[in-house]
Amino acid sequence: SGSGKKKYKLKHLAPLVNGKPVNGKQHEHQHQKNGFKTPNGSPSKKRRRSLVELDSDDDGEQSPAKRQRVRAPNGVNGHSAAAPSLLEQRKQLPIWSGKDALVREIQANDTVVILGETGSGKTTQVPQFLLEAGLAGDTAIAVTQPRRVAATSLAARVAAEQHVEVGGRVGYAVRFDEKTSPATRIKFVTDGMLVRELLADPLLSRYGVIVVDEAHERTLRTDMLLASLKDIQRARRKGSARPLKVVIMSATLDAEKFSRYYDNAKILYVKGRQHTVTIMYTKEPQVDYVDAALRTFFQIHAEQPAGDVLIFLPGQEDIESLETAIKLHAKQLPADAMQISVCPMYASLPPGQQARVFATTAPNTRKCVLATNIAETSITIPGVRYVIDTGMCKEKAYIARDRGSGIDTLLTKPISKSSAMQRAGRAGREDVGWCYRLYTEKNYLQLADATIPEIQRCSLTSGILQLKALGHDPENVDFMDAPDPYAVGASLMILHGLGALDKNAAICEQGKLMAAFPLDPPLAAAVLRARELGCTREVLDIVAVLSASSNVFLDASLPEARQAALEARAKFRHPTGDHLTLRNVLVAYVQVCADKMGPKQWCTQQWVNQRALREAVDIRKQLEATCEKLGIDPRATCGDDSDPALKSILRGSFQNTALLQPDSTYKQTMGGQKVKIHPSSTMMDRKVPAIVYNELVFTNQTYARVVSSIPKSFLLEIPLFQSRSSS
Ligand code: CDP
Ligand code: MG
Repeated sequence: SGSGKKKYKLKHLAPLVNGKPVNGKQHEHQHQKNGFKTPNGSPSKKRRRSLVELDSDDDGEQSPAKRQRVRAPNGVNGHSAAAPSLLEQRKQLPIWSGKDALVREIQANDTVVILGETGSGKTTQVPQFLLEAGLAGDTAIAVTQPRRVAATSLAARVAAEQHVEVGGRVGYAVRFDEKTSPATRIKFVTDGMLVRELLADPLLSRYGVIVVDEAHERTLRTDMLLASLKDIQRARRKGSARPLKVVIMSATLDAEKFSRYYDNAKILYVKGRQHTVTIMYTKEPQVDYVDAALRTFFQIHAEQPAGDVLIFLPGQEDIESLETAIKLHAKQLPADAMQISVCPMYASLPPGQQARVFATTAPNTRKCVLATNIAETSITIPGVRYVIDTGMCKEKAYIARDRGSGIDTLLTKPISKSSAMQRAGRAGREDVGWCYRLYTEKNYLQLADATIPEIQRCSLTSGILQLKALGHDPENVDFMDAPDPYAVGASLMILHGLGALDKNAAICEQGKLMAAFPLDPPLAAAVLRARELGCTREVLDIVAVLSASSNVFLDASLPEARQAALEARAKFRHPTGDHLTLRNVLVAYVQVCADKMGPKQWCTQQWVNQRALREAVDIRKQLEATCEKLGIDPRATCGDDSDPALKSILRGSFQNTALLQPDSTYKQTMGGQKVKIHPSSTMMDRKVPAIVYNELVFTNQTYARVVSSIPKSFLLEIPLFQSRSSS
């Protein structure tokens, strides 16, 4: 969103002459060399003895000819032509020669932990090995991923390797998007989707094998799964059901912790190949990492031999800023200089654009991939020899406030040493590589060793509702790392406030219904209230727009864009504020699509994001289906009366309310913090007695985003506020 924009100090970028910066060498931003080998190379001797080594038969250094083959085009698209070379590529992977040993071990043990560095072939090959060896019988294999973009792109790759279409033998299921069929035997799912499947099928009986991939990321859902799968294994052993095989895969050296947690499960170690990576640090700390990345990239482009560049950035906004800047500078390159192809890669990138990242680059072109930590371990991008590491990532964080009013937010934070090593390792997969760290060595040494598991730093509201719906009490679940009791208490309180739990913290009917929606509890609660007030049509529209992965209104922070954007937006403006304004945009978009009026052009004229709207339309369809399954009429409408829709939104977002103060600032009703209205809001310049908002964003200030005006009297309809005012 608009307020945190980076400004490039472009004048510091040396002018390009024949593709080379003049006086590039004396650049203020030179790196110190600091050679180091294999960030996550072989584990220590002691650890090795306790492991089964899945050895590979080559010596680690490949001949150039072999290397060429590994880098041959990989057919995510047009796989028929590339098919033979795909098998060749598979055979080159370090894990290939360990296939038989791996299958044997998984046959003999119900749980194994596989440790192998990124790119060794764990995710793409293990499910295929197990399927081909008949380990799943006639059931399916689920492979979990923390991120949707990883699940969809890996499904595409494995489907190509199996010579099938995605949705056939190989498919995927992520929130609001699924490509599977009864024929699907290998299914890539987000960890969140598998937790959701547990609600309908508590023993996950349609799977013979669950592969918990990227376990080292320790997302809340992965931790919940690891705990549930232990119970399921026990329950299935007791019953006559087919035993459940659990395969835990990790790219970092934390395998022993997973093994201990699963009664000393066997650890299988995939011997990888990793070439030397030279690490460079900046001499001085960098204030602006996007600008530093820009300068470093062009330094590499001008001075270093061919090889693709992978730049790690915290999030989509920085990626888009840097993409624009690199393209701008690339235009100044002479026609005969090596060209640049910029490929962004982040969680909400639409599937169509993901494939570009994996495609081979055109001749005389250097690919520059701008990625979030998705490229740290989940996906391997071929051809990378240079890594630029900004040292920053976006991390979910929970900001605790009093009276259960804590909130989840994404904070841009320094990475951990373990992440820094993974990032550097990406440069050395195919040949010797270089990693440019945009921070000093001293800064590196001060980084935390590893990232804190998400369960200890995010809101547990939706996770706890799911546990409750599964019949578990969070206090009694044997988690790998226990959540903070304060955070558990805060979530229980919110769930009680939403009417999901009764006063003894037992789940009520309302809570079970809420858990059935693929929505966060506040939005699910809004839909259920809409059913009572007869306005599901309006509320589903709003909820769908709020659930899309990008904003509907395009960023118009550039001065020349602002006026045009404001004028376009005025047409959609609803007097009550943003929620119904967003709904107006969606309704207008659906109308334009129905009239076949060229939605793309319309979106450009209106300064709205077609991708977000298309996504919202899809989400809406799925929410309608969920409603119908639960016996809720998705078409009930309140017509021109906006009160019922706002009351429904407020029912779910009661903790996101604030009251106007005499000094004309807004103060939260719960938590008592001051909040400002985000500059992108239609409520920006208005003073109203009370507001409800969808979320807070933190820059240098605390901003409420998606804001509507509500009469104060609405607040008194919230049960929690009634009990507060009477006590
Ligand atoms: O899971 P792990 O990091 O051990 O490796 P993987 O994801 O199975 O990747 C194995 C190989 O497949 C890598 O060399 C990737 O370059 C390649 N791959 C690809 O070319 N395109 C994809 N969409 C996915 C993987
Ligand atoms: Mg993997």
